[in-house]
Amino acid sequence: MTSAITDETYAELESIAARYPQPRSGLLPMLHLVQSAQGRITPEGIEACADILGISAAEVSGVATFYTMYKRKPVGDYHVGVCTNTLCAVMGGDEIFARLKDHLDVGNDETTTDGKVTLEHLECNAACDYAPVMMVNWEFMDNQTPQSAVALVDDLRSGKEVTSTRGPRICTWREAERVLAGFPDGRVDEGPAAGPASLVGLGIARERGWTAPDRDQGDGGHGVPEQPAQAVEGARVSDDKQAEQAAVEEKAPTTTTAAEKEDAE
Ligand code: FES
Repeated sequence: MTSAITDETYAELESIAARYPQPRSGLLPMLHLVQSAQGRITPEGIEACADILGISAAEVSGVATFYTMYKRKPVGDYHVGVCTNTLCAVMGGDEIFARLKDHLDVGNDETTTDGKVTLEHLECNAACDYAPVMMVNWEFMDNQTPQSAVALVDDLRSGKEVTSTRGPRICTWREAERVLAGFPDGRVDEGPAAGPASLVGLGIARERGWTAPDRDQGDGGHGVPEQPAQAVEGARVSDDKQAEQAAVEEKAPTTTTAAEKEDAE
């Protein structure tokens, strides 16, 4: 049984809508806040969003049922996603998912009887360089195996502190939903922003002196829209910093060797 939307949550929903020139642009984060407050998208949450935005409940419901991150059934404390898209699947994702279904005694999109873990198979998380990848409350857990996956869910269920392999300490699903609604929890700087495997290409480019085409040359025929010079420069400085950090922390020996071998040939 879910209680009604509280006055405090209603006020926060209004504050989200007020962030945007067109209030209905705030619907997605508003739905995340509903999930944070109520554990799922409820009829009361839909009505509240519709009321604040001046649109129909059917329109809100249409959005809430379109995106898979919005849940109509209660989610456990930890939403555990296993990528079973092509690369992760062949690297072990299918095996991990099958092992977890058996270990947790749940099917896809189902929650354990203790209410701790909801298991779901996910499509590509854009983290293929660390396949097979899992996510807990949308934080990456890289390079998993069936054994590490079982240990992970056991740790979560026992209340042990778990840290993402590329991010912060894992909070609860409801807490994560609040962050997605735009209310920071102060953990954004915990953990590395990018891992060495994601920066290998950048490292090779820097070793060889490769640079992106000059912006005056347009999109180079690749259909990539030009970005403001300030944004490009900001991204370049950020990438440079990460590459330098990665070079210090973990020089990618296999890639460097491959690049050197190619040079020799
Ligand atoms: S296929 Fe799993 S992250 Fe891309």
